[in-house]
Amino acid sequence: EITPIKDHFGRSLKDLRISVIDKCNLRCTYCMPKEIFGDDYAFLPEEQLLSFEEIVRLAETFAELGVEKIRITGGEPLMRKDLDQLIAKFTEIPGIKDIALTTNAILLPKRAQKLKDAGLKRVNISLDAIEDEVFKQINGRGVVTLPVLKGIEAAQKAGLQVKINMVVKKGMNESQILPMARYFKGKDIILRYIEFMDVGNHNGWDFKNVVSKKQIIEDINSEMPIEPAEENYYGEVASRYRYKDGGGEIGVISSVTDSFCGTCTRLRLSADGKLYTCLFASSGFDIKEKLRKGLSDEDLTEELTSLWGRRKDRYSEERAEHQGKNRKKIEMSYIGG
Ligand code: GTP
Ligand code: 5AD
Ligand code: SF4
Ligand code: SF4
Repeated sequence: EITPIKDHFGRSLKDLRISVIDKCNLRCTYCMPKEIFGDDYAFLPEEQLLSFEEIVRLAETFAELGVEKIRITGGEPLMRKDLDQLIAKFTEIPGIKDIALTTNAILLPKRAQKLKDAGLKRVNISLDAIEDEVFKQINGRGVVTLPVLKGIEAAQKAGLQVKINMVVKKGMNESQILPMARYFKGKDIILRYIEFMDVGNHNGWDFKNVVSKKQIIEDINSEMPIEPAEENYYGEVASRYRYKDGGGEIGVISSVTDSFCGTCTRLRLSADGKLYTCLFASSGFDIKEKLRKGLSDEDLTEELTSLWGRRKDRYSEERAEHQGKNRKKIEMSYIGG
């Protein structure tokens, strides 16, 4: 039986974003700059990661509280062993209608079919440039686009729906806005442009480097006319636009210039078992400790209901007030975006 819950502002809980590992095989400058995430960086040790049993128990309880969508994130989630087994478990949870994965696609050629067979329906793949020289500068590992394009191909071949996430940052890849659109247009892939966000404390964010949704839309529209399209689901993060010539659609995720906290139904679970009620939260709620101390099902439901009930986060709407205050924020690779 499902008992939907609401937060302080009346927002329901619908989506659970689950980070399964904090490691990644890339070092994108805006996410895990290699100067910070170097060889001696202390990633989470294995015993601190939630086990699949613990993750599934939480997911089942959340589904009873109204969660319908599960997104698996990282770091790079495909670096977690046996991920397909976790997906298979999610497909058995009553109430879960959508299971998705956010990945950099490098490991997809090996895994796409297995993930699809386990019950995965779709993947969102990060790719910030279509030109090798630009992409190599961004990912911190000198990787060219081919492995990612192979991952995209493998996903499509396996029958997974594909969206591409492109973080746009001035001075980094604004030259790629049009080339990316041209490349993915007509390929049955939705390209989504993401405004560079001030996640974490180490990505050197500055408003000067944000390319606005308005600018992106104008650039594309000038060459390939687009028109707004209606949202696919309540509180969709991306604003959708369709090509007037039938070449498919694009999306823009504008957390900076046009925020969407009012419809935010998302809760995040970190790989080490902390719950975050906002991407920009300073601290999380340690549910792992409670699970490992033998929390009863009834008490678990109570804890989760009360955590969501206390939720007042609306960071993107308050962003201006937070600037320059040195607020401690959780890193992107730890919370999965
Ligand atoms: P769909 O289910 O396909 O709509 O995916 P999604 O956009 O919800 O998830 P994805 O992991 O692909 O995230 C795309 C971008 O949106 C990333 O940069 C995320 O950090 C950002 N994003 C997702 N949810 C939120 C949110 O609640 N707040 C903010 N500020 N950004 C978010
Ligand atoms: N701003 C916007 N998007 C970001 N991502 C990672 N760091 C940032 C940032 N600072 C994106 C990744 C991935 C998604 C989960 O979040 O590129 O596609
Ligand atoms: Fe890895 Fe994705 Fe972060 Fe790049 S953006 S470092 S691929 S987690
Ligand atoms: Fe939700 Fe926080 Fe993002 Fe606003 S900033 S949409 S409250 S996660």
